[in-house]
Amino acid sequence: MTEQRGNFGSKLGAILATAGSAVGLGNIWRFPYMTGENGGAAFILIYIICVLLLGIPCMLGEFIIGRHGASNTYRAYSKLSEGKAWKYVGLLGVVTGFLITGYYAVVAGWCLQYIFATVMGHLNGTPQYYIDYFNDFSTNPLRPIFWTAVIIGITHFVIVHGVRGGIERASKLLMPTLFVLLLVIVVASCMLPNASQGIRFLFYPELDKLNSEVFLGALGQSFYSLSIAMGCICTYASYFSRQTNLTTSAIQIGIIDSIVAILAGLMIFPAAFSVGVNPDSGPSLIFITLPNVFQQAFGGSSFVGLIISLMFYTLLSLAALTSLMSLHEVSTAFFYEELHISRKKGAVIVTISTLIIGAICSLSLGEWNFLSLSGKNLFSIFDFVTGQIFLPLGGFLTCIFLGWYVPKDILKSEFTNWGTLKGTFFGIFLFLIRFVCPISILAIFLHQFNII
Ligand code: PHE
Repeated sequence: MTEQRGNFGSKLGAILATAGSAVGLGNIWRFPYMTGENGGAAFILIYIICVLLLGIPCMLGEFIIGRHGASNTYRAYSKLSEGKAWKYVGLLGVVTGFLITGYYAVVAGWCLQYIFATVMGHLNGTPQYYIDYFNDFSTNPLRPIFWTAVIIGITHFVIVHGVRGGIERASKLLMPTLFVLLLVIVVASCMLPNASQGIRFLFYPELDKLNSEVFLGALGQSFYSLSIAMGCICTYASYFSRQTNLTTSAIQIGIIDSIVAILAGLMIFPAAFSVGVNPDSGPSLIFITLPNVFQQAFGGSSFVGLIISLMFYTLLSLAALTSLMSLHEVSTAFFYEELHISRKKGAVIVTISTLIIGAICSLSLGEWNFLSLSGKNLFSIFDFVTGQIFLPLGGFLTCIFLGWYVPKDILKSEFTNWGTLKGTFFGIFLFLIRFVCPISILAIFLHQFNII
């Protein structure tokens, strides 16, 4: 079993793969919208503070657990706690990652369909056309499932090629491509007439909009965006080498993720303001509002319009794919190590089961809409249970585990690479993980149920 365990071959590969997990749909549809709605530059400032004081320490904590365990997330928690009940916190991470994989793949599949639609010249019509197109497509019983199967198939292909030959190689190719696509669209968007209004909307600090909701929104966004408490960070860290500087890696990934999020804002708002369309949130932003914005701004049937739309959906698909790879890997590592089967068989189990979950989720939007609970469809239920319950619970318990249970000398030796690094920030890390992080996570958790 041990020889099946790979590791990342280079520092850059490890950083790009982990950044690939972090950079996802959350950066592109959620962050820009949250920023615009919650006070522009003031929100960005709070978001960056959240990333620095909460996101990066929690990521660092998961790095420590993962690299120390050198195994899947469940076993990594188990090793650090000598088999005590803390291992179930690791299991919670695996379950959360597993459940998210299915529905994240459905949205990723939609991105592929929109690449196809662009090429076929279907994304060209009135604003109402885009609404109808999206509703028809997403409630269709077969087509979204086909695209979900395609993206899961691509993910499977990468995963069976292993950590170094699959995940690392793909990330080294996909992440720079993603960055270039993003930059090109940002430049095109910022050169449109009246683009400065969009830039102002994004960067003008509106301090009167700041309230507790904004703080909690920024905190939740930073956790989701950094893929914390879903097993991904811990699993990838189990492939880090003993020389990897965990602190600088966490900081670099936090910076890359935040830069991509801010650039996504610079891609969306200038174009939307230029044509006077109000940016929406969630799926409707990506699949209804933006195709309309791009068509109006760049000319839907013109060559430039086609290229921009193609680049945009390719960018989204790549961002989703690299996140999906990390989600898939969480469960693959769990199955092959816990069931003592080959990596390939583990991947097949994950691929088939996420395909089934994805298909059910997709059908619940159309033909199977009876699959709902108090008016919420399966999609929203998955999103709610994983994002609003499992994520804060797992994050909170992980902080308590690291801060109050795991012996300090183990933490310190991982933090300093067994005494070879200075560890100047260890005291700060310990303080944040013991007090600031768990209290803040508890605050968002209680606040969303209106308890505080
Ligand atoms: N961080 C990803 C994003 O920003 C989402 C994600 C969460 C990916 C959890 C993997 C695991 O979209």
